Amino acid sequence: MTLLDRAIVRALPVVPKPVVQAISSRYIAGRRIEDACSVAAQLNEVGKMATIDVLGEEIDTAHEARAIRDSYLGALAAIDLEGLDANISVKLSALGLELNGGVAARHLRTLVVEASERANFVRIDMEDSARTDQTLRIYRKLRHAGHENVGIVLQSYLRRTLDDIAGLGELRPNVRLCKGIYVEPPEVAYQGYEEVRQNFVAALEALLDAGCYVGVATHDEVLIDAAERMVAARELGPEEYEFQMLLGVRERRASELVSAGHRVRIYVPFGEEWYSYSLRRLQENPKVAGYIAADTIGRVLTLGGRSGR
Ligand code: FDA
Repeated sequence: MTLLDRAIVRALPVVPKPVVQAISSRYIAGRRIEDACSVAAQLNEVGKMATIDVLGEEIDTAHEARAIRDSYLGALAAIDLEGLDANISVKLSALGLELNGGVAARHLRTLVVEASERANFVRIDMEDSARTDQTLRIYRKLRHAGHENVGIVLQSYLRRTLDDIAGLGELRPNVRLCKGIYVEPPEVAYQGYEEVRQNFVAALEALLDAGCYVGVATHDEVLIDAAERMVAARELGPEEYEFQMLLGVRERRASELVSAGHRVRIYVPFGEEWYSYSLRRLQENPKVAGYIAADTIGRVLTLGGRSGR
C-alpha cells in the first residue's frame, strides 16, 4: 500500500458524489436489478457468465436484512425470467449475520431453496477473518442438510486456508478461490505479495486434487497462467472449473480466456447502496483505490472508453 494510495483514500469523502459515481460506474452495474440484468445479458452475449451481488453489507436491522433477502429473491426471479446465465453472490452480514437468532442462516436457506427451484446457485462471499468460522459453519450446515447448489469462498491470504480445504474435503465444496480483500493482521494473514500468490497456487492445487469445482477469481496474470497450466495438466474439461473477474477489470483478458475455451464469470454488483459501498471498499483497502486511480488516469491519457487489460 503506497503513500499515494492512502492519499487518494483520504481525499475520497471530499470528491463530489457525481465524480465517484462516474468512476464507480465502471465497476457497478447500477442501482436496480434491471441494470444488473442488462449488464449480465451483455456479458452473456460475449460468452461470459455473471454472478449478481446486491450491495449493502452494513445493515443494522432485521428489516434491512429482509430487504436484502427480497432483493436477491427478485434477482433470482429476474435471472430466470430473462434466461440469463447468471447466479447470485451473497454476503452473510448483509443478510443479518450480526443480528441475533440465526437470521442470516435462515435468509440464506430461503435463497438456496429458491435458487434450487429455479435450477440456480448461490455463492456465499467470504468477509473478514472474524466471520470465517461462522460463514463456514453455516455453509456446512446447508450441505449437511442436502443442499448442493451452494458454494463458498476461500481466501489465499489467510494462513488457515489449506487447513480449511482439508477440513471441507468430504463435502467436495464448490469454491471460489481469491486472494482476499480485507486488511488482516499478520497473525491470521500472509502480508507478502509473493506469499499470498504461493498460497493461492497451493490452495488451487489442493482443491483440484480433492476434485472440487473451483472458480479461479483473480486478475493476477501469474495466477491466471498457473491455473491454465494446472487445468491443462489435469486435462479438465471447461465445465469442471471457471475463471472469475470483477466487472470493469481486465475485460480484454477475460475475453481472451473465453476465446481460449475457458468459462469466465463476471461479478456484477448493483444496488442503491453503491456510494457507501464504493467509499467503504476503497477506505478499507487503499490498494484498490490505487488500482482504480491508475486505471482511470490511464484511460484519460489514452482517451479510451472502457479499457481492457
Ligand atoms: P492483485 O490485487 O494483485 O491484482 C492484479 C491486477 O489486477 C492489479 O495489478 C490490477 O491491475 C488489477 N486489479 C485488481 N483488482 C482491481 C480493482 N478492484 N480495480 C482495478 N484493477 C484491479 N475477496 C474477498 O475477500 N471475498 C470475496 O468473497 C471476494 N470475491 C471476489 C469475487 C471475484 C469474482 C473476484 C475477482 C474477486 C473477489 N474478491 C473477494 C477480491 C479478491 O480477494 C482480491 O482482492 C481482488 O481480486 C484483487 O486480487 P487479484 O487476485 O486480482 O490480484
